Amino acid sequence: MLSKAPLGFFDSGVGGTSVWKEVVQLLPHENTIYLADSKNAPYGIKSRQEIIDLSIKNTEYLLAQGCKLIAVPCNTATTNAIDYLRAKYNVPFIGIEPAIKPAALNSDTKKIGILATKGTLSSQLFKTTQEKFTRDIATIEVTGTGIVELIESGKKDSREMKSLLQEITQPFMTSGIDYLVLGCSHYPYIKTTLQELLPKNVKIIDSGAAVARQTLAVLQEQNLLNTSSDSGQHRLFSNADPTILEELIQPVENATIASLDF
Ligand code: SIN
Repeated sequence: MLSKAPLGFFDSGVGGTSVWKEVVQLLPHENTIYLADSKNAPYGIKSRQEIIDLSIKNTEYLLAQGCKLIAVPCNTATTNAIDYLRAKYNVPFIGIEPAIKPAALNSDTKKIGILATKGTLSSQLFKTTQEKFTRDIATIEVTGTGIVELIESGKKDSREMKSLLQEITQPFMTSGIDYLVLGCSHYPYIKTTLQELLPKNVKIIDSGAAVARQTLAVLQEQNLLNTSSDSGQHRLFSNADPTILEELIQPVENATIASLDF
């Protein structure tokens, strides 16, 4: 019975759908609920306590819907609140970490770039991950100020975005990096523009597929997989303009989107 219960996702907005899509693709029989807290985006400029408070509110909403697992595709919420959530609630949580490890292991130039929010780059969890995997690697960290706001307002492919990214990517241009790690759930939506701007040898990586694999592993371990052969049903909620969400979730089927006042 519990196996039919939905997987819950919350994010500071629409960006986490980049990760949600990877999970839906890998686990096509799972039902899901996605909560886009766009009204409070971006989380990346908030204090740790504010991020924890919003994460609690989102978690309690998802638990009230009967979710059997909660995924937190928002890097800022994971790095600041996931330890707290795991200690407080008795369901498995799947967090997201910037893909520093594979970038560091595969880098030939021994220099990698990391693009993330201020909240992620200043968190303890980020520092610990970075220290663990980049002992012999130089990291160039850049805060993606303004990117989330443009994606939340439906301007991911705009001229405004291109000129913002031209400015933001300057520190990466002559730094000799061969990997750029995307440390924010929203950034996969600007990957094409970043690739056009960056030197050709720079590979851009995000963590969506790793989160999907981890979700599968936890569901198997805890005997929570939905064994039905039906396609999963997906309910997405936004507390801002739901049309942005609608555009981003294509081509996922069996999905409904609704506005929610929370
Ligand atoms: C934000 O809300 O500032 C970005 C979300 C993230 O860190 O993934």
